[in-house]
Amino acid sequence: MIGIIGAMSAEVEALKAKIENPRTERISGTEFVWGRLSGKDVVVAQCGIGKVFAAICAQTMILRYGATTLINTGVAGTLSDKIGILDFAISSGVVQHDMDTTAIGDAPGLISGINIVEIPAAKSLCETAVSTAIEQGNRAIAGIVASGDQFINNASRKAFIRDTFGAICCEMEGAAIGHVCFVGGVDFVIIRCISDNASGEAEMEYPEMVKIAAIKSQQLVEAILERI
Ligand code: ADE
Repeated sequence: MIGIIGAMSAEVEALKAKIENPRTERISGTEFVWGRLSGKDVVVAQCGIGKVFAAICAQTMILRYGATTLINTGVAGTLSDKIGILDFAISSGVVQHDMDTTAIGDAPGLISGINIVEIPAAKSLCETAVSTAIEQGNRAIAGIVASGDQFINNASRKAFIRDTFGAICCEMEGAAIGHVCFVGGVDFVIIRCISDNASGEAEMEYPEMVKIAAIKSQQLVEAILERI
């Protein structure tokens, strides 16, 4: 079973609509839709915005639906000069940029208990995602996806996240999903199509770009399903 998670309706509705013989169930306020998609058994859910909702959803997909791979689809702000609006950022790994116990001597982003900053994504899923995106005619790079419970729209926070973690994009769920997968021994990859520059400059186009980017990301996920 492959779990597919998006935060907002626009990030999963196209995939949900394509599921064959869909069945649905609501758990903790989240609707889970499962069935066949691109020849695979999938469960798809709109988890809501932020790390807690994402973690609840990821854990539910693993425990209740037996997901052994999780794919997170959606939009993100770019932190890299190599990718702009409507290009793709694919996770080689994830960090939680707002995890901060530096006051007691830890490295920024360190997750106490598992004592790591960066959680690695599944290498083969990451490679398949990048090559599929490029085959589809997109620009795509692999790198660190940084998540936190903040919409980033100012230059100084953007620079902090990029410079501290070497991250290529920022969003609000991926690293929570990665964290759940890490402790549960489940493969994951984060697929993000860029919707904005995370800088507060020229973000006027965000409401339009978010819709296009969300669709592009779902199209890439569908193509990835056919290749795994
Ligand atoms: N999702 C899309 N753009 C984002 C940004 N700039 N910050 C956080 N999450 C995002």
